[in-house]
Amino acid sequence: MTAIEVRGLRKSYGATTAVDGVSFTVAQGEILGVVGPNGAGKTTTVECLIGLRRPDAGQVRVLGLDPERRRRELAERVGAQLQESEVPAGLRVAEALRLFAAFYRRPDNWRAVLERWGLTPIADQAFGKLSGGQKQRVQLALALIGAPELVVLDELTTGLDPIARRDTWTLIGDLRASGTTVVLVSHFMDEVAALCDRVVVLTRGRVGAMGSPQQLTADAGFDSLEAAYLALMREGR
Ligand SMILES: Nc1ncnc2c1ncn2[C@@H]1O[C@H](COP(=O)(O)OP(=O)(O)OP(=O)(O)O)[C@@H](O)[C@H]1O
Ligand SMILES: [Mg+2]
Repeated sequence: MTAIEVRGLRKSYGATTAVDGVSFTVAQGEILGVVGPNGAGKTTTVECLIGLRRPDAGQVRVLGLDPERRRRELAERVGAQLQESEVPAGLRVAEALRLFAAFYRRPDNWRAVLERWGLTPIADQAFGKLSGGQKQRVQLALALIGAPELVVLDELTTGLDPIARRDTWTLIGDLRASGTTVVLVSHFMDEVAALCDRVVVLTRGRVGAMGSPQQLTADAGFDSLEAAYLALMREGR
């Protein structure tokens, strides 16, 4: 089954064209990587997927629904960890998890989530006083508390220490095993190569390349996705 279908997506902010005719599909249970330089339109694209932005043109279907019209229904089924944080600074970690869990019909047990994500030692700290990496862990836990069918993660591991980053990879592996569909925006090619079934490379609002990490690497004649990506970016300049 198709979890996400995007056809001819366009989105501008005034005179800036952020997304300029992007099309891709994601199968249920697939892990899709979205990569590309700063300003390529990655965040704008994923924001359109979760109904946070209204496309100027094109069609978007998420779990068969139009995110613009069925945002509330999708909010029950889609978890998101966004680049811009929206957790109130005064909210304590445990409170945030309990509060977010209450939004869902069938949430995970928030105490178990606290434990699973190593958040128990900071359970009583206010979100605003956490370190960048701690905030990120909390946000990931919040994205998953509703036991979503699809998770959108925008630069999930940016700012995490190397161990936390690897822990996160393991957790994404667990998501894969549970059949959850994942859209992972990332600047780390090692991460994308290790985790993703397929990758969409965005450049200036367009799809510059698409395929499995192995395909993209081999097509470019390199032995790592990072080298293939860098070559693709130099070519596109
Ligand atoms: N709220 C906004 N208002 C105006 N312009 C915006 C807004 N958000 C993004 N843009 C512009 O749209 C373009 C795409 O931005 P977007 O955030 O989607 O890129 P990105 O690929 O996520 O970049 P990054 O890797 O830096 O996160 C950029 O030129 C950016 O300046
Ligand atoms: Mg972004």
